[in-house]
Amino acid sequence: MEKKIIAIIGATGAQGGGLARAIAADPNGGFAARALTRKPDSDKARELAAKGAEVVAADLDDFESLRKGFTGAHGVFCVTNFWEHFSPEKEMVQAKTQAEACKAAGVKHVIWSTLEDTRIRVPLSDARMPTLKEKYKVPHFDAKGESDNAFRAAGVPTTFLLTSFYWDNLIHFGMGPKPGPDGKLAFVLPMGDKKLPGIAADDIGKCAYGIFKRGKEFIGKTVGIAGEHLTGAQMAEALSKSLGRPVSHGAVTPEVYRTFGFPGADDLGNMFQYKRDFESEFCGARDLSVARALNPELQTFAQWLQVNQARIPTS
Ligand SMILES: NC(=O)c1ccc[n+]([C@@H]2O[C@H](COP(=O)([O-])OP(=O)(O)OC[C@H]3O[C@@H](n4cnc5c(N)ncnc54)[C@H](OP(=O)(O)O)[C@@H]3O)[C@@H](O)[C@H]2O)c1
Repeated sequence: MEKKIIAIIGATGAQGGGLARAIAADPNGGFAARALTRKPDSDKARELAAKGAEVVAADLDDFESLRKGFTGAHGVFCVTNFWEHFSPEKEMVQAKTQAEACKAAGVKHVIWSTLEDTRIRVPLSDARMPTLKEKYKVPHFDAKGESDNAFRAAGVPTTFLLTSFYWDNLIHFGMGPKPGPDGKLAFVLPMGDKKLPGIAADDIGKCAYGIFKRGKEFIGKTVGIAGEHLTGAQMAEALSKSLGRPVSHGAVTPEVYRTFGFPGADDLGNMFQYKRDFESEFCGARDLSVARALNPELQTFAQWLQVNQARIPTS
């Protein structure tokens, strides 16, 4: 039987890469990966080709390249990378371009990697967190949540995938435990005693694969996924065990976090505050059993640490 093609935006990245690897790991699953990238000659693109993916040049800023890249595909995984440009407006344009290209290509199932529009619960007039870039509370969330409308407006059969904080941020995003002036390690998480839904980034793509496999039942639905919901203290305890040295929870406030000064600190400070202040809604939207049903290999934080602890910078 001919395999159903899944065209993957971000196939050289964390989310799409997980999906491409999940498809490659299941050669009899009935699906084939088409990896869309701006750089078909990159090492990451070559790795995907070596695993059997078809590699196709495409750019989110070029509708025609997406339309071509999506043509003949059964499914498309859509994602945007806010952190490449820090522009919510650009992210929304790229989401709309993907939605319209899916429509033009007649795709049967789209997964849009989204997040909450925080302004629904915290309107711009709400002073408990600052308004950023004039129109947003958490720009990299709000732009994705607002973009859900682009997929609805295009009328494409979409599953809205609510992702979670990657534990990989401890490796790649400077969020690992840091030594204080006393040399002792602290893991900063500005959420007090509230729980953060987290996930191994690779598991997002595996869950997306589960959604494509089950197909129709998820069209038009929002599906939230996480590997575990953990407090900062619980994460610090797991880090202590795994690293073999004490790690405390650096329980700063979101107000302090926003002043840290690195690019996006204000956005992330607001994000953590939102997750803290709406813990039950945010965790409730990310049912662990749903994620595990989609991806039976779903990792816990301890399992992820077992594999990755040596990659976490601690200096
Ligand atoms: N870090 C977290 O905890 C977390 C949690 C939830 C959601 N997110 C969201 O995840 C998104 C990023 O996804 P990721 O982490 O999977 O990405 P990533 O690993 O940072 O890689 C970015 C991917 O996006 C592709 N890309 C970017 N701009 C493109 C363009 N103009 N045209 C075509 N492809 C483009 C890149 O492809 P090429 O370079 O090969 O073209 C690459 O594959 C962000 O928007 C972020 O807000 C992050």
